[in-house]
Amino acid sequence: MMKHNYVTRILSSLLAATMIFALAACGGEDNTQGAQSEERQESSQPATEFTESTTNSESDEVADAASDNGGAAQGGSKILIAYFTAAENSGVDAVSSASYTTIAGTAVGRLRAVADMIQESTGGELFSIQTSVVYPADGGELIDYAAEEQDENARPELTSHIENLDQYDTIFIGFPTWWYDMPQALYSFFDEYDFSGKTIIPFNVHNGSRFSGTIDTIKELEPDATVIEDGFTVSERDVADAAEDVAEWLNGLGY
Ligand SMILES: Cc1cc2nc3c(=O)[nH]c(=O)nc-3n(C[C@H](O)[C@H](O)[C@H](O)COP(=O)(O)O)c2cc1C
Repeated sequence: MMKHNYVTRILSSLLAATMIFALAACGGEDNTQGAQSEERQESSQPATEFTESTTNSESDEVADAASDNGGAAQGGSKILIAYFTAAENSGVDAVSSASYTTIAGTAVGRLRAVADMIQESTGGELFSIQTSVVYPADGGELIDYAAEEQDENARPELTSHIENLDQYDTIFIGFPTWWYDMPQALYSFFDEYDFSGKTIIPFNVHNGSRFSGTIDTIKELEPDATVIEDGFTVSERDVADAAEDVAEWLNGLGY
């Protein structure tokens, strides 16, 4: 099923691709990239490029656990902002790691940076999706490790858990694109929780393939949730400057 989807995505990506991002051309600092699993190179070297996905209707530019504001409400419901970032799932050194971006002088994981921006506008509670897996700090090793996890359809054990899910009606869920899909930890996350009757608002950081097919995947995994297709996606290179775009996107959603 998943493999079939990947083949479909490859074909649609090849047809739709208008741009190829060569990692080496990006200054070398943010040295993570992926490619669809069938296109993976056999060597231990990470693939060097992947195509832009145009298959979603996402917005064009659109354990930490909770922050202390109690998850401000919109229309009386509490908001949770769940996110997964490699930076909070590996033993990496914040200063030297390519998994971080610098916001106001502080190094944070890119998904955390976007989660903070959403928190700023919505007052929601932050929730870091964390696993017992210590992901490799080295970018190339992480690429290979994630490929293996995806091939095995792994479900990394989660070590952070949402307390009292009932209090949240809206859940922002943020993840990086890994190999044209969500990290396997997100599959563990969607296995653990039933978001029936809740609204899921996806956000994403990528290096060319945007959401890929992940919004459709979330809809399949949570058929009784309302999944907002106009999610926010941003290139890893633009995260530090994304606050205005995030606020504008949220404004369009009524926040
Ligand atoms: C294992 C791995 C696979 C990736 N695969 C893709 C991909 O298929 N498409 C893409 O656009 N970016 C890909 N990327 C780039 C990430 O989406 C991007 O670096 C993101 O900012 C990572 O977020 P984080 O640093 O907060 O974990 C990949 C990165 C990693 C580490």
